[in-house]
Amino acid sequence: MKILIVGSGGREHVLAWKCAKSPRVEKIYCAPGNAGIAQIAETVPLQPDQFEELADFAAEHGIGLTIIGMDDPLVGGIVDVFEQRGLRVFGPRKNAAILEGSKAFSKELMKKYKIPTAAFETFTDLAAAKEWLKKEARFPVVLKASGLALGKGVLICENLEAALDGAETIMGRKKFGQAGDEMVIEEFLTGKEVSVLSFVDGTHILEMSSAQDYKRAGDGDTGLNTGGMGNISPNPYYTEEIRRYCQEKIFQPTVDAMKAEGREFKGVIFFGLMLTEDGPKVLEYNCRFGDPEAQVVLPRMENDLIDVLEACIDGTLDRIDLTFCKDPCVCVVLASEGYPVAYEKGKVIHGLDAFSGKQDRFCFHAGTANKDGEIVTNGGRVLGITALGHDLEEARAKAYEAAGWVDFEGKYSRSDIAIIR
Ligand code: AMP
Ligand code: GLY
Repeated sequence: MKILIVGSGGREHVLAWKCAKSPRVEKIYCAPGNAGIAQIAETVPLQPDQFEELADFAAEHGIGLTIIGMDDPLVGGIVDVFEQRGLRVFGPRKNAAILEGSKAFSKELMKKYKIPTAAFETFTDLAAAKEWLKKEARFPVVLKASGLALGKGVLICENLEAALDGAETIMGRKKFGQAGDEMVIEEFLTGKEVSVLSFVDGTHILEMSSAQDYKRAGDGDTGLNTGGMGNISPNPYYTEEIRRYCQEKIFQPTVDAMKAEGREFKGVIFFGLMLTEDGPKVLEYNCRFGDPEAQVVLPRMENDLIDVLEACIDGTLDRIDLTFCKDPCVCVVLASEGYPVAYEKGKVIHGLDAFSGKQDRFCFHAGTANKDGEIVTNGGRVLGITALGHDLEEARAKAYEAAGWVDFEGKYSRSDIAIIR
């Protein structure tokens, strides 16, 4: 079968790498891809928002399955375009991708179906939001742009002054663009965070092994929120007892709720959870694999990915037995100095050859490009250095050792990924 992957990050690299392991796959294309993906797939110069052109490509090249890695095209309805053309595609339709595309929608859904989440209010009017903050809010309070904002549209405000300014930032100054046309104001929760990715076929849900994201830019969870500076799987705080609770109160109820709303979800639901004193609560839903969650979860997955993705499309996930190896996995992101704000691109990356032939360490490319015969940096997050080990300590040591094999000007990583506090 021929596969087309849409996206260009570390998540799409690990998806391509996992597809390449399937004996069912004869060729992989990726649009637009990156320099690492280009080593295992043919890259296609089309952007993720070119839905019709991508569908033309899939039709003309006899693609048997297109996998949409990123949130933007899913929320924009790329799956509907492919389906209307009779093309096989993995991911939720537009009316289901709203689970990530609108936090106002997902919060109302959770309220209606009694899925545990932080208490909240939604606003489309800035003055009304400010009024509520003055009269009702308890601090700290969390402000969220309702739409997609690259994981950056969340502001935690310690006091009224900061909250009023935050509301201006989101709804007035539109720092996150249209994502701020609507705003969710939410109760501040505390606890350990867990990422759970799951396969969903409209009716059934199969969770993958859990993961833990390191969202902040700096050591000790300081600095700005990023797309993720590292990840580990499994998540040490996610016990069997917590898992059972989530299955009963969160995972299946979410799938059932979407179906009841006429928004049958097929694809990956990523549950961002907070383990609070009152039990696990949903912080957010995403409608796709996490990045870098995918980099630590997929290397541990023993199934043929294509079998599982097809079962999601066909509604036969109940026939799949999902298994993961016991070895933990650690991913350390090498970023460009200055990320997530301003950073330079085009720096030559040295040392990548050290990974060739390694079975327990992988270098997944995120923001890289080929330029004049060399591989150069081309984004904030550049590489995801990933290692498996017999235990977390070993996986961590291997990942950091391998992170030292590569070098580029402005290379930056957190030093505390996989240190459990
Ligand atoms: P989100 O994009 O909604 O997952 O939010 C990004 C990050 O902001 C989360 O991973 C949390 O670290 C933090 N966050 C979001 N919502 C809350 C909340 N209600 N209470 C505390 N922290 C939150
Ligand atoms: N690492 C978090 C995300 O993919 O949204």
